[in-house]
Amino acid sequence: MIKRRNFIKGSVLGAISTTTPIISRASGLFEINKRSSRKPIAVATWDNRKATRAAVDVILKGGSALDAVEAGARVPEADPEDTSVGYGGLPDRDGIVTLDACIMDESGKAGSVTFLQHIKHPISVARKVLEETPHVMISGKGALEFALSQGFEKENLLTDKAKKTWEEWMKNNDYRPVNHDTIGILAIDDKGKMCGACSTSGMAFKMHGRVGDSPVIGAGMYVDNEVGGACATGQGELVLETLGSFLVVELMRQGLTPEEACKKAVDRIIKKYPELKEGGAQVGYAALSIEGEVGGFSIDKGYSIAVSDKGQDRLIVPDHYLG
Ligand code: GLY
Repeated sequence: MIKRRNFIKGSVLGAISTTTPIISRASGLFEINKRSSRKPIAVATWDNRKATRAAVDVILKGGSALDAVEAGARVPEADPEDTSVGYGGLPDRDGIVTLDACIMDESGKAGSVTFLQHIKHPISVARKVLEETPHVMISGKGALEFALSQGFEKENLLTDKAKKTWEEWMKNNDYRPVNHDTIGILAIDDKGKMCGACSTSGMAFKMHGRVGDSPVIGAGMYVDNEVGGACATGQGELVLETLGSFLVVELMRQGLTPEEACKKAVDRIIKKYPELKEGGAQVGYAALSIEGEVGGFSIDKGYSIAVSDKGQDRLIVPDHYLG
């Protein structure tokens, strides 16, 4: 088995599609955001503009920020073409799809599920954990039993496409982290309340039982309505070991802009693993201040952030550490 340090270094994260228009790059856009009317607004990792649009539409129809981030995360969860989230997600090395998700409301209460199988919308189960239980995190068989008790349906989440990709991978069985595009989403509703959500099928071909950063409050996502919120994508181990989203929010509390805070959180990863200066791993952060300022930063190129507000959906490309 590959050793942990090599495993950390061995990740390859593919570039985003460039077929979609990129509206702006880095800090210039963030300043424009700052000056314009921003509520409601939704921000998500990667080109999840359909998700941020769905989130804002929920708010425009009278829903809360919590309704919005749940609705947003459900978009890639239901998409069989999205191989990193929900239905259609690539399985673990044993060919089993296992899902992680978390959600956080404006008062800082959270719900989370890890290692959940057979349920298409883990984000909605996470919300049930928040609203219907005294707990924050429920895992594995217990999470499935809880979901079924709440009326969720058991489904086969392994699509033919994902199964074929796994079968191809099995030919070499080369255990190294590969591309995955977790959705983290943050939204501010028209009352100025911010909530967040994060959902993933995790690292493709991971060890059975592996859980990443996405369902861990403060790692994959964190929201504090005094300051703002942050969410993460990429190699979860690096985010977990630096509690990345919490770190970004705390740095914003100290007065850093969302972009500066995300950059410092990436610097923290590089400080821990200096060999990543040579490349080989990706982590991307997206952050939203409670005033509505958007920022992000990633280790490597290829990362993008979706932003929707009342009028417009746009894709921005934050700066990155390498290159
Ligand atoms: N960032 C998702 C994961 O590592 O599982």
